[in-house]
Amino acid sequence: MVVTTQNVAAVLHGVGDLRIEEVPRPVAGPGEVLVEIRSVGICGSDVHYYEHGRIGDHVVNAPMILGHEASGVVVGTGQRVAVEPGVPCGHCEQCRAGAYNLCPDVRFFATPPIDGALAHVVAVHEAFAHPVPDELSDDAAALCEPLSVGLWANRKAGTTIGSRVLVTGAGPVGVLCAETARAFGASWVGIADVQPDRLKAAEAFAVDEVIDARRGVDYAAYRPDVLLECTGAEPVVDAGIRALRPRGRAVLVGMGASGTQQLPVQAIQTRELIVTGTFRYAHTYPDAIALAASGRIDLDALVGARLPLAESERALTMGHTDPSVLKTVVTVSEG
Ligand SMILES: NC(=O)c1ccc[n+]([C@@H]2O[C@H](COP(=O)([O-])OP(=O)(O)OC[C@H]3O[C@@H](n4cnc5c(N)ncnc54)[C@H](O)[C@@H]3O)[C@@H](O)[C@H]2O)c1
Ligand SMILES: [Zn+2]
Ligand SMILES: [Zn+2]
Repeated sequence: MVVTTQNVAAVLHGVGDLRIEEVPRPVAGPGEVLVEIRSVGICGSDVHYYEHGRIGDHVVNAPMILGHEASGVVVGTGQRVAVEPGVPCGHCEQCRAGAYNLCPDVRFFATPPIDGALAHVVAVHEAFAHPVPDELSDDAAALCEPLSVGLWANRKAGTTIGSRVLVTGAGPVGVLCAETARAFGASWVGIADVQPDRLKAAEAFAVDEVIDARRGVDYAAYRPDVLLECTGAEPVVDAGIRALRPRGRAVLVGMGASGTQQLPVQAIQTRELIVTGTFRYAHTYPDAIALAASGRIDLDALVGARLPLAESERALTMGHTDPSVLKTVVTVSEG
């Protein structure tokens, strides 16, 4: 391994202003290791910060390194790791209850003001640098992050053998929710979208039904008992909940633009439905890694484009130029 004092990163300076530039090489603090980054998946939130400079209350006021779906190699030991991007405080009420994703003081990569992982070297808390086996590629190790979102959504939904799972939205998160549902033993998995490229891409994954929602669709006809809502679109949240069978569970993963909407309360009451949200995930990485390493979920199949760090800006706009690309990976360094 080449150890230098230099570090280069993709730094967001403002809306549409991403610069590949020299940054200080981090120093490992107490309990931290340095990770030489290999692959970084581009997420919708990175694109949003690049295009709008903010997500809700999170505003980019100072230059910030993007990227939170990362894998790499621990400097000194050579251990390949998947980087869990949110490090909680460890001692607040939520942390002590095990709900560390809800820690009010969590430091999450590429959420202002915390720097992300689109850099040659990053300091990571050792408990959040998860070892990965040889079977996992560097890209797949990075994509254990969005896989964790899918895994957590299915845990919240109680997806199990025999479940009928409706996933709305065939973006990377929806596809991974669907794949995880299948791995959890669901007997039927359907995934809906309105974009032709996304519908076509979804055909390649292990789903029973790809649902074209461009023209009115009656989700209830599929008799789902789990809804994994991954669009954030108000009418879809409403229709998805209404479609659930008695005692069904709706997990709202997608984030709506307004943060407020009407819900079909009567359906929720008379069918005793359970509706919950998810905020990222907790305790998922070891299972996500094992699931991907077992071959039951092929994370590499999501990767539609790979670009070097110098082309990070192109990586961020890839989703617009080619919507059939579910996931773009920036190859910071190759093993
Ligand atoms: N809760 C969390 O912790 C968490 C974590 C990651 C992502 N998210 C959210 O999950 C959502 C999905 O993420 P993604 O990266 O896959 O996003 P994405 O934008 O790539 O995918 C969303 C998909 O929904 C489809 N869609 C839009 N309107 C629809 C409709 N009426 N019917 C059916 N499909 C419709 C779009 O065509 C698109 O393919 C986003 O809202 C994202 O912010 C939440
Ligand atoms: Zn992400
Ligand atoms: Zn905490």
